[in-house]
Amino acid sequence: MILVTGGAGFIGTNFILEWVKQHNEAVVNLDKLTYAGNLQNLSEVQSNPRHVFIHGDIGDQELVLRLLQEYQPRAVINFAAESHVDRSIHGPEDFIQTNVVGTFHLLEAVRQHWNVMSDEGKAEFRFLHVSTDEVYGSLGNDDPPFTETTPYAPNSPYSASKAASDHLVRAYHHTYGLPTLTTNCSNNYGPFQFPEKLVPLIIMNAIAGKTLPIYGDGQNIRDWLYVSDHCSAIRAVLAHGNVGEIYNIGGNNEQSNLDVVTAICTMLDQVHPSSPIVPHAELIQYIRDRAGHDRRYAIDASKIQRELGWRPVETFETGIHKTVSWYLANQDWVANIASGEYRHWVKKQYG
Ligand code: NAD
Ligand code: DAU
Repeated sequence: MILVTGGAGFIGTNFILEWVKQHNEAVVNLDKLTYAGNLQNLSEVQSNPRHVFIHGDIGDQELVLRLLQEYQPRAVINFAAESHVDRSIHGPEDFIQTNVVGTFHLLEAVRQHWNVMSDEGKAEFRFLHVSTDEVYGSLGNDDPPFTETTPYAPNSPYSASKAASDHLVRAYHHTYGLPTLTTNCSNNYGPFQFPEKLVPLIIMNAIAGKTLPIYGDGQNIRDWLYVSDHCSAIRAVLAHGNVGEIYNIGGNNEQSNLDVVTAICTMLDQVHPSSPIVPHAELIQYIRDRAGHDRRYAIDASKIQRELGWRPVETFETGIHKTVSWYLANQDWVANIASGEYRHWVKKQYG
């Protein structure tokens, strides 16, 4: 079996749902259920014996060690994190606590467990750390995309905390020999994404006739990847990645924020003409920029393509179509999510 952390969040949920469909191997899912974690996401596998949910914190070293001893997973995949840049600007402490201190305790528990495994078990074991392209900082318009050797230059408390966790993972491989793998991926979008992030926020606001907030001039660029393509990349790295190495993952799909928002509006004009305001793009409103807003991210994913044969399946057009359709078909999910804590966040961030 495998142990997944943060499996009730956006990417972890997609990863687990796909894993249970595709593998006979069971998944133990350790999640703290912060505002971003939602067990409703996993209702499809709730009574499946190949999914075991454990409510807990990756920073609880004793709990993690107990789980490792009880379930003897062949791999740990660490998705658990505080993940929203804007929240890290308002309150960085939770980011340090989970992304840095939490990852440290998780690594310590794994090291303790791994140390006493048989030689064969040790060689087969993997610790896969899921990280982000934001650790590389911000690109100018003419800069080449980030490679695995681009120096780290994180700019937000979020990316700094992820960078710190990546460095710890690297150190545990170099110092203790822990068989680690690290992935640095670009912006994901798709089903089950918490509506604080750009794509679901725009879809939800647009169908409700609310303004579509664009930070600054809307020309910041991100490299968008459909979430199931990220999940397939993680499976490829887990199965065939070289121990101690880093793999960049991206969709080769750079878009300005304004283009992303416009694409969503155009699609909604066709598939949801009953919204209060159509054309949806009339709702676009430019608002104050994010502090320290990174201008451009772009990923060079040639290493994972060349060495592991991984390629994304979805284009931005097919992925955004699937995403918009999912949110339209799952408005109950959206309504449940958009309760207390979420309303509080929207008020704090957008006034
Ligand atoms: P998310 O915020 O949707 O989910 C995070 C999950 O982690 C939640 O279920 C939450 O309850 C859980 N969690 C938080 N703190 C925890 C703790 N201390 N112990 C146990 N569980 C805890 O995040 P996401 O978008 O699914 O991102 C998952 C991972 O992928 C993160 O590490 C993130 O940095 C990375 N990543 C995300 C993106 C993206 O575009 N979303 C891109 C690249 C990398
Ligand atoms: O690059 C990978 C990263 O992508 C992940 O590591 C993070 O966990 C994930 O949240 C995401 O970070 P971003 O900051 O790029 O994503 P977000 O959806 O918050 O914002 C995308 C872009 O849209 C960014 O340039 C800010 C802008 N934006 C965002 C929101 C929420 C707006 O213009 N308006 C908004 O209301």
